Amino acid sequence: MKKCRARIVSKKELCEGIFDIRLRTEIAKDAKAGQFVLVFPNDPSRLLGRPLCICEADGDELRIVFRISGLGTKEISGISEDEEIMIEGPLGNGWNIKAAAGKEVLLLCGGIGAPALLQLAKKLGSQKGKEGGPKNVKAVLGYRNAPMNTFLAGDFENAGAEVVIASDDGSVGIKGNVIEAAGEKDIDCDVIFACGPMPMLKAVKSFADRKGIPAYISLEERMACGVGACLGCVVKTAAKDAHSHVNNARICTEGPVFEASEVIL
Ligand SMILES: Cc1cc2nc3c(=O)[nH]c(=O)nc-3n(C[C@H](O)[C@H](O)[C@H](O)COP(=O)(O)OP(=O)(O)OC[C@H]3O[C@@H](n4cnc5c(N)ncnc54)[C@H](O)[C@@H]3O)c2cc1C
Ligand code: FES
Repeated sequence: MKKCRARIVSKKELCEGIFDIRLRTEIAKDAKAGQFVLVFPNDPSRLLGRPLCICEADGDELRIVFRISGLGTKEISGISEDEEIMIEGPLGNGWNIKAAAGKEVLLLCGGIGAPALLQLAKKLGSQKGKEGGPKNVKAVLGYRNAPMNTFLAGDFENAGAEVVIASDDGSVGIKGNVIEAAGEKDIDCDVIFACGPMPMLKAVKSFADRKGIPAYISLEERMACGVGACLGCVVKTAAKDAHSHVNNARICTEGPVFEASEVIL
């Protein structure tokens, strides 16, 4: 894990309030699918880094895709090409890629949860049908409505996933949430990887429990230190932690990816 300055290579607004930034940084070469970085706003009054998923990592380039949700992400969205910003990472555990070996994989992406799954889709797409790789990869991407412009859907297709689109209001793709859309398309799977809002992840967990399918979920929680020191990001776990004997895990350190059966949501 490193903390260093990264140069902005490009910046795009994918749709209103959702930004796509590519950074040149040595952190990229160590980054794994499902990990995240802390991005530090340049304004010194905002000391804490903002956790953002590694959407893509290629060579010395890292891609982040985020929604403006408060002052920190607003400031980060205003940074210009060629400027620099402080980042720290890679952080967290990342997806359990081995769980996809020989399996029909379903990626469930709710709104701004999609960036957490793109690098995984690329990795699985490149291994599809090979020894240790998945049998097939399908991705259901859920959006609130059509103006969200189905951002990243084309990237999932380019990664080799069969893509299904869903939206809450039916203005694009199948009307309903990602689980309803997977049901409507009769998608069969042996393993699920999911990221999205908490109500969606709760639904994924109970769907996976009912079907007896392993599911891996990436949790987003308010974070402060981001490196395991403040206990500001704990999630309840089914089993006691062997070290501290409590039913808690830190999302920033033991997560953000958990097997759904390990956590109580
Ligand atoms: C592991 C992880 C990965 C994430 N990846 C993405 C991503 O790829 N794209 C994306 O759009 N969003 C992502 N988020 C959510 C993103 O971190 C928050 O939207 C962002 O921190 C909000 O900061 P702010 O200053 O704009 O908002 P404010 O509400 O002003 O933030 C105040 C403080 O609360 C923290 N905070 C607020 N909301 C969240 C949140 N949901 N999660 C964690 N900390 C929060 C901020 O970091 C800051 O320290 C991720 C969160 C986590 C935990
Ligand atoms: S944010 Fe401090 S322990 Fe996770």
